[in-house]
Amino acid sequence: MQKIFINIKSLLKAERKNKTKICGEDMKNIGVIDNAFLIIEDDKILDFGKMKDFELKNYNKNAEIINLKGKQYILPAFVDSHTHIVYAGSREAEFVDKINGLTYEEIAKRGGGILNSAKLLHNTSEDELYEQAKKRIYEVMRLGTGAVEIKSGYGLNTEDEIKMLKVIKRLKEMTPITIVPTFLAAHAVPPEYKGKQTEFVDMVINEMIPIVASMELADYIDVFCDKGFFTVEDTERILTAGMKYGFRPKIHANELDYSGGVQVGVKYNALSVDHLEYLGDEEINALKDTETMPTILPGTAFFLGLPYSPARKMIQAGLPVAMASDYNPGSSPSGNMKFIMSMACSKYKLLPNEALNAVTSNTAYAIGLSETHGSITTGKVASFIVTKEMPSFDFFPYSFGSGLIDKVYINGELID
Ligand code: NIG
Ligand code: FE
Repeated sequence: MQKIFINIKSLLKAERKNKTKICGEDMKNIGVIDNAFLIIEDDKILDFGKMKDFELKNYNKNAEIINLKGKQYILPAFVDSHTHIVYAGSREAEFVDKINGLTYEEIAKRGGGILNSAKLLHNTSEDELYEQAKKRIYEVMRLGTGAVEIKSGYGLNTEDEIKMLKVIKRLKEMTPITIVPTFLAAHAVPPEYKGKQTEFVDMVINEMIPIVASMELADYIDVFCDKGFFTVEDTERILTAGMKYGFRPKIHANELDYSGGVQVGVKYNALSVDHLEYLGDEEINALKDTETMPTILPGTAFFLGLPYSPARKMIQAGLPVAMASDYNPGSSPSGNMKFIMSMACSKYKLLPNEALNAVTSNTAYAIGLSETHGSITTGKVASFIVTKEMPSFDFFPYSFGSGLIDKVYINGELID
């Protein structure tokens, strides 16, 4: 089935030649075709170009034609390369605790935070967990996300981690969005291992990793390498073990301190290092000329009042920058990638074009989807956003509280 979009005000990130990661100065550039057409066939992008070159006779006569009347934009769907969308319940009581002055770390220390979510998850059936997560998946699709990474990590024991990963697998099979599963092997030390962190890491290595690998439930491995959580040594041990089973690392690094997480991620050729609220020259230098995508999570810095990563400095150093939502119940209870773009502009001083590259091509790279997602390129999946009528593309991140998304197509399917 073909669908033909005509009289598109501008087609954004229309890139004939696929770019994988977009670095430094180049982040300012996006392919733009004004007064454009776009043709999709089933779940793929078939063709696009300028209206003046469009000839209807070249396409299927039964194609559905959608006329945007020169008023609406089309841009690729967001790729959200870091989320924890599968979780049980919510943690708004901790939100109030934070308003009353407690920090994220203080809440974690007294058994709240990740441990709170782990308890809730333990007491929730797999079916109920699936239903809760499915709602969030539909929510983010309507907000324009076409591909999402989902981490485990609220299990903290083998059985509950597998429960989470099975829910992720089911979501992947049952919903139109593209899902990339990551095994977040070490997220927090559970109460039964209190004071025995090394033994917990041993259990992750000897029991969890081999089982998750044998069940083929994840593509990547993650560790929360930070102050009060897992050390660089723990991280090295877990990554080494995971890599033996074919898991490439993508890690949580430098959210709470200069943890050494960035350097250890780079050392093990992580596909991405994520968070980066604490990022100095040493970390920037470590990231230069590597295959590791620095990924900033603006929602977390916003919600927890953490420092905003020096994104401009990173770009000036020639690095690529990706930005994802970190959708989770504790530090970023939102998967709104348009809001992430607005934050990219207002708080991190990215230009709208840079922000768009940060939430599409660069996040696609960060979950191994460069060949299929992140731009309007022939052969890629037909996952894109049709905006409402707007005066310019800059208006999109500028109007941070307005939806501005008229329709979302995910793998060729209109989401309603
Ligand atoms: O990315 N930092 C570690 N993990 C999540 C938060 C998890 C939680 O608080 O539930 C994050 O911020
Ligand atoms: Fe996270």
